[in-house]
Amino acid sequence: MAHIEDPAEAEARRLDAGDPGHRELFLVPPAEGGDYPETAYLAGNSLGLQPRAVRGELLEELDAWARLGVEGHLEAERPWLPYHELLREPAARLVGALPGETVVMNSLTVNLHLLMVSFYRPAGGRTLIVVEDTAFPSDSYAVRSQAAFHGLDPDVTVVRTDDPRATIREHGDRIALVLLGGVNYLTGELMDIPGITAAGHAAGAVVGWDLAHAVGNVPLRLHEWGVDFAAWCSYKYLNGGPGAVAGAFVHERHTGGALPRFEGWWSTEPATRFEMAPVSRPPRTADAWQVSNPPILAMSPVRTSLELFDTVGMPALRARSERLTEYLQTLLDPIGVEIVTPRDPARRGCQLSLRVADAGGLSKALRHRYGVIADSREPDILRLAPVPLYCTYHDCWRAAAAIAREVGP
Ligand SMILES: Cc1ncc(COP(=O)(O)O)c(C=O)c1O
Repeated sequence: MAHIEDPAEAEARRLDAGDPGHRELFLVPPAEGGDYPETAYLAGNSLGLQPRAVRGELLEELDAWARLGVEGHLEAERPWLPYHELLREPAARLVGALPGETVVMNSLTVNLHLLMVSFYRPAGGRTLIVVEDTAFPSDSYAVRSQAAFHGLDPDVTVVRTDDPRATIREHGDRIALVLLGGVNYLTGELMDIPGITAAGHAAGAVVGWDLAHAVGNVPLRLHEWGVDFAAWCSYKYLNGGPGAVAGAFVHERHTGGALPRFEGWWSTEPATRFEMAPVSRPPRTADAWQVSNPPILAMSPVRTSLELFDTVGMPALRARSERLTEYLQTLLDPIGVEIVTPRDPARRGCQLSLRVADAGGLSKALRHRYGVIADSREPDILRLAPVPLYCTYHDCWRAAAAIAREVGP
């Protein structure tokens, strides 16, 4: 039977015509069910879509390897030896950092550990680590294992809170580290990064941020906000591909060399790398936190994707993100589902989290019956992210219409 367009759908199409985004730059997975050939992909907060340009640029590196072997380190069109430097400035622009404050390397949790080696220095009565009560499990495991590594009891040392400011006020001089998600993975809430950073500093603590759900989603000014350190992944809003190489930020006041770090041959000044000296001469930048030589084949998609952010620009993305998210909210409100994400656009990115009875079951139904890709977190949260780079108003309409049919009155 032919699909008959209803007025709300026609309105979504009209909005798309006036505010089109950049879907054409991405490969949108085909739908398994429903009335449309492509999925309505609202899971970019989990894994972003593949930019069309990725395949060609990745093949260039494979070809360089085939043609040049080891000489590709110096002779590839983008030589592999300094390859990570190509990602430094685009990454710095995304998080509002000076170029010397960012480095693209490793995975997110690995970076959190490497940074905590430097920034979690429990001493005397100042030992506590403050995390949010809904911290992503990897972060919880990471901070607990850091406490244990220092011979401390994780159950006592790690303080989970739903009100970081109050906890900072209460425990002030006992806090060594505050480590929070910039945008909460579960609720989609954008934290007051500058305010909490300032409060932590006033209490004498170090303040670090996990920006997995913030980078490429909301504007960031880490340098200006005085954040001590931060780390993020590149597979969500940055569209760098599954398990993509992550990023790290170290404020320039800490890049001078006094902090302890774990080192390897990529921690030394490039000019000294092949002197084969037994002692490193670390640069006065975040590069000093690197350990190993970078995985070029994994970094190529991140480099390609970061270029898109430079082309489109975060201000334009953020503006479209606010319009799309607001539109999705206006479609969801009449259904009567509980939206746990703050309603104020200034306190969220592009994710709306819904509390529903069987989030896992609903997510499966959306995919198989309607071709709508969302994701769920146990037990009762369904997450929808109208990512401004490639999602459309029509995607939002499809998601809301499908949810209405599944859970509506
Ligand atoms: C907030 C947050 N922290 C940490 C991680 C873990 O990242 P990785 O497996 O890349 O270390 C994730 C993964 O989704 C995340 O969302």
